[in-house]
Amino acid sequence: MHHRKDRTRTEDLERERRAARGGATATRQPADAGSLPAFTASLQNTAGNAAMSQVVDTARQGGASTVPGAIQRAVHPGASATTVQRAEEKATGGHGGIKKRADGRVLEKPTNDVERNFYSDMRAGKHPELNDVVPGSHTAGAVKEMDSETGGSDDTHIYIDNLTQGMNKPKLLDIKVGESTSSKQELLLTMKKADAAKKKAKLKVADVMTGSKLNDYRVVGGTDLGGSRLKNGMLSKRNIGKFSDDASVYDELLPQLAQVRQAAKSSGLAFIAASVLIAVDQEPADGSQAATAKLNLIDFAHTFDTNTMSKEQTEKYQKRFDTGMASLIKDVGAAAEKARKEGAE
Ligand SMILES: Nc1ncnc2c1ncn2[C@@H]1O[C@H](COP(=O)(O)OP(=O)(O)O)[C@@H](O)[C@H]1O
Ligand SMILES: [Mg+2]
Repeated sequence: MHHRKDRTRTEDLERERRAARGGATATRQPADAGSLPAFTASLQNTAGNAAMSQVVDTARQGGASTVPGAIQRAVHPGASATTVQRAEEKATGGHGGIKKRADGRVLEKPTNDVERNFYSDMRAGKHPELNDVVPGSHTAGAVKEMDSETGGSDDTHIYIDNLTQGMNKPKLLDIKVGESTSSKQELLLTMKKADAAKKKAKLKVADVMTGSKLNDYRVVGGTDLGGSRLKNGMLSKRNIGKFSDDASVYDELLPQLAQVRQAAKSSGLAFIAASVLIAVDQEPADGSQAATAKLNLIDFAHTFDTNTMSKEQTEKYQKRFDTGMASLIKDVGAAAEKARKEGAE
């Protein structure tokens, strides 16, 4: 029976959540090496935020089979090869491997079959509600016509329109929406049972650590932000408020966010770990930053509906996404008001 262990785990998570809120922390108990308190303590003592963000990333990629293993790797980097990332990607927190194609108009991203099928469905007109909020996409063949480069294929990559196309000095913010980054049931579709349970446990740790449980959304990266997912996540609200000091930039984004929320709702799809990607040109040709402010919903590697998942699971994650969007819209609204007040001073 796993009940005892589950309860301990729940209590650990609750304690950590309280600590993250800045409330009273229960006295730390001596704990198993693999438990959450030991896990976080060991990071605080030895490795700090950079290591934590690596643990989170490693866990996300399913690269470590155990939490202590992930810590080992974070404290002693080099144990496993990490993907080389472009500077821009690093700034906004992706898994790496994204290549510019067609003079930068198109991005070639290596991804799983779920995301590849999603874009192929989009092109086939299966989710018309999402047309205006999801990047346009192309087949590998079509992109080859544009730049005659050799690249990946439709069996391994997606080819999507670059949101920053035409911008002189883009500023980006990548915000993951929804309180959880994983559904065990959804992971089970592609992973062996034991691996799925482990991966979900680690993703839960990441959620608590990066504040997504508190905020229903979290900033995972952005231009001028550091590479620490932990820090970026914990400072989500502040990072939203720092995106611009121009209230009209937020004013421009608010209806677009409402559109994403509505489109997601009517699509019937459930999105886990999808991001709202926001962009603004800091050196706009016509002088108005607000006129360039735009966003897309991206990152569909864990998207599903009732064709592959139960009605309960689908509705659960639809609700999480919607709650996350509501929370994000509220905070962007607050950022607009704050910028307006400070602008008037
Ligand atoms: N359509 C796009 N336009 C501009 N930048 C994008 C676009 N899609 C992705 N990116 C950049 O690449 C990063 C990683 O993309 P994402 O789809 O989130 O991949 P991953 O699965 O690796 O997280 C994003 O944070 C963003 O900086
Ligand atoms: Mg991403």
